[in-house]
Amino acid sequence: MRSARLFSFAALAAGTTLTVLSVATAQPERPSRPEGRPPEGRQPEGRPEGRPGGRSGAEVPNVEASMKGLNRALQQLRDQVGDPAKKDACLKLIGDAQRGCINAKAGTPHQVADIKDEAAKAKAAESYRKHLIAVARKLLDVEQNIMEGKGDAARAGISELLKMRDAGHEEFGVD
Ligand code: HEM
Repeated sequence: MRSARLFSFAALAAGTTLTVLSVATAQPERPSRPEGRPPEGRQPEGRPEGRPGGRSGAEVPNVEASMKGLNRALQQLRDQVGDPAKKDACLKLIGDAQRGCINAKAGTPHQVADIKDEAAKAKAAESYRKHLIAVARKLLDVEQNIMEGKGDAARAGISELLKMRDAGHEEFGVD
């Protein structure tokens, strides 16, 4: 009696394992991509587009969307950065700003992609990257100041970031 119960328990366990395995390995059929269309999140050369935050590392973030995310986070930060009760919210916002910055840095704005002369394009791409590296560094300083409760220093850092934005936009002809 006891061994029969043991046997049926073992059979039940084996059946469950098989079911779980077959569900885990089943792959939905991939929809086929129309001929000539780039994979999702990629654009033909020169017009990068994509979803920021893609996991594969192969996706090219959309510069404009990433910049807008960075801008939104900074505007919100500016309004609440001095308030100690809002420290956690500010730390979340600075994370959003950093994500936008890193995604923007990984993309190529059309102001660079559209340059025909290869040497001039490489120079513009390098300048774009340098500006965004400086922005990323400043964002980390602002994060540290928020974390240490230095509201005035954090606010000053945000003002500097907005000046960096304006200088970068002037250089690249963004209104
Ligand atoms: C805190 C820093 C920055 C913020 C908050 C910011 C914000 C923005 C925003 C809101 C846009 C969209 C503009 C629109 O809709 O017309 C934008 C676009 C753009 N920004 Fe920035 N930006 C920053 C830094 C920079 C820097 C340093 C550069 C240059 C090195 C730069 C280059 C560009 C370019 C090229 C575009 C146009 C992208 C496109 O249309 O594809 N930005 N930025």
